[in-house]
Amino acid sequence: SVEQRIEDLLKRMTLEEKVGQMNQYNGFWEVTGPAPSGGDAQRKYEHLKKGWVGSMLNVRGVDQVRAVQKIAIEETRLGIPLIIGFDLIHGYKTISPIPLAEAASWDMEAIKASAQMAADEASAAGITWTFGPNVDISRDARWGRVMEGAGEDPFLGSKIAMARVQGFQGETRDDLSKNNTIAACAKHFAGYGFVEAGKEYNTVDIGTATLYNTVLPPFEAAKKAGVRTFMNAFNLLNGIPATGNSFLQRDILKGKWQFDGFVITDWASIREMITHGYAKDGAAASKLAVEAGADMDMESHLYVAELVRLVQEGKVEQKWVDDAVRRILRVKFELGLFDDPYRYCDSKREKATIGSATQRAKALDMAKKSVVLLKNDKRLLPLKKEGQRIALIGPLAADKTSPLGSWRIAADDLSAVSVWEGMQKYTGNQLTYAEGAPLTMGKTTFVDELVFNTSDTRGFEKAIQVAKDADVVVMVLGEHGLQSGEARSRTSLDLPGVQQQLLEAIYAVNANIVLVLQNGRPLALPWAAEHIPAIVEAWHLGTESGNAIAQVLYGDYNPSGKLPMSFPRNVGQCPIYYNHFSTGRPTNSENNVFWSHYSDSENTPQWPFGFGLSYTTFAYGKPVLSKATYVQGEPVEVQVSITNTGNYAGSEVVQLYLHDHYARIARPVKELKGFQKVTLAPGETQTVKFSLTDAELGFYDTTGTYVVEPGTFSLFIGTDSEKGQEVRFELQ
Ligand code: IFM
Repeated sequence: SVEQRIEDLLKRMTLEEKVGQMNQYNGFWEVTGPAPSGGDAQRKYEHLKKGWVGSMLNVRGVDQVRAVQKIAIEETRLGIPLIIGFDLIHGYKTISPIPLAEAASWDMEAIKASAQMAADEASAAGITWTFGPNVDISRDARWGRVMEGAGEDPFLGSKIAMARVQGFQGETRDDLSKNNTIAACAKHFAGYGFVEAGKEYNTVDIGTATLYNTVLPPFEAAKKAGVRTFMNAFNLLNGIPATGNSFLQRDILKGKWQFDGFVITDWASIREMITHGYAKDGAAASKLAVEAGADMDMESHLYVAELVRLVQEGKVEQKWVDDAVRRILRVKFELGLFDDPYRYCDSKREKATIGSATQRAKALDMAKKSVVLLKNDKRLLPLKKEGQRIALIGPLAADKTSPLGSWRIAADDLSAVSVWEGMQKYTGNQLTYAEGAPLTMGKTTFVDELVFNTSDTRGFEKAIQVAKDADVVVMVLGEHGLQSGEARSRTSLDLPGVQQQLLEAIYAVNANIVLVLQNGRPLALPWAAEHIPAIVEAWHLGTESGNAIAQVLYGDYNPSGKLPMSFPRNVGQCPIYYNHFSTGRPTNSENNVFWSHYSDSENTPQWPFGFGLSYTTFAYGKPVLSKATYVQGEPVEVQVSITNTGNYAGSEVVQLYLHDHYARIARPVKELKGFQKVTLAPGETQTVKFSLTDAELGFYDTTGTYVVEPGTFSLFIGTDSEKGQEVRFELQ
């Protein structure tokens, strides 16, 4: 068995070789070229040959992976294979929508298929492990990494975490050894989505109720789906770095949840514990990290430097090293690497799979499902296919790189289909294009960080002319794909640069505007929400972006996406989320000033969680409960009828929210507890049924104990988190 093979190997390993398995290096030289001489690269190379490296990241492609694997297999004493990691969170070369966009589909099969597609391509390029899914719940659009997650809700986030894990790894542990699956990694454990003020790498200070009910559930769901690795996080959690946090990694993850895979640190996060002021030096940081349950060191270079000595001097118990190595070897065995270390290195498969028409078709399907229709007044959409003059305007309209979004390391620049290209496939209309304004002025001193252009309005004149001569103007505005993602926090959620000015200038000459948004986070667009008749949220949709958008605009695909995060009216409302608690004074019933509100903004978001329109309309019946009173343990059954009352076939996500009226810790005003996506022909009615059990009715108290309490509950069923119809029941 795998366990026997692990024990057998462990017995034959020296302490140095064990610590070597716990060391991961970034790809550091052109592996198919000559060996590195001098500097850091040579040092790493020597370590690799001695068996002091257990994993590498950012080595990709069959030739490269085969070359490093060959060193591990043929030149080290025990020939233990490397596990090769890579950040592929929404595709390898063929890029799917950013994860936040995929979450807007609320379609678990589609999300799973998208992860499968990514695993298929990456494994064909020799990669055996992805650093995904990112399951961080976040309520703050200022944080750039919201584009990587599934949004603000732990229930939706948990379902998506499971779908992604199964997509990458397969359904069972045995599937992991297939050559088209890869190990997944639930990250960042834990709390990273709650960085203060949305500032990257910032402190996280949250209470236990939030930790247990909001932050941890998607991680636990990933564990239940069989995820084989976890990544810890850069942040402090209530004063203790996640990387050195034994409550998280030992007590909860490896204790309560019985996780038997391994934990990788985030990049250099062991070393950063010194900067946090938590560890005195590298030796102390290594001791804290390994004892807390961080099994593999990503690029701190500390385990390899410190651990052998720490164990020899009796400062770290050998059992922690053995525990980590067992976990790492287990995953390598499960991947089948010991049986054939080159099983992911098939050049023929690499050529046939990567970027194939099948892959692109899957990316297109996911992209269409991710689009959210936010507004469609005047029935501007879908566009007529003939006889119209259409102006396409905006810095993102013809862009072929931005739609790839952030974290698309292996994709080629300029490889996305632009909106301009997608729309040209519809030849019945006259189509003209003007950029209007450049979105960015260039880069900051940092690679990849873009500076917003706040002054260049030279292109306005041409754009205005083009708009004047059009029946409908399609404007593609938003954020460049590299303006969200890691280390891309913002203090403003406006359209960057001069885009708002451009939008208003065009509106002044032609109000028939369809605004297509491309962005990696919720934006605050109060002016557009009020004035622009049609708004389409198209995120960063990946390789097939322009085709997906054109098909939606022309009505060949009826959008059905729903927002996975609230869109604020202004940045000052952040963090804003639908499942908040009630204050003591939630309304102004006394008609005086002393209630919970802002003097200069409404409390509600611009567009709430779960919101999204369709080209058709849906009518909900009144939800019907099977009873008014239930005994604990009985399923609470409720059904609702839904009718397509419009002229197009369409899909709707029927959403069910729960409110527990009083409990030992206050419960949110609403919590998503069920959803179903139904597709209806015009005039068709379907009955949708939900059954709630203890898993949906309870909550974690402040000690982390899951409880279901008797009392009064409301259910709201409807089209989004604001519009549900209420029914009540008692639980005895
Ligand atoms: O996987 C990532 C992580 O999310 C952020 N820091 C770097 C890691 C490896 O690239």
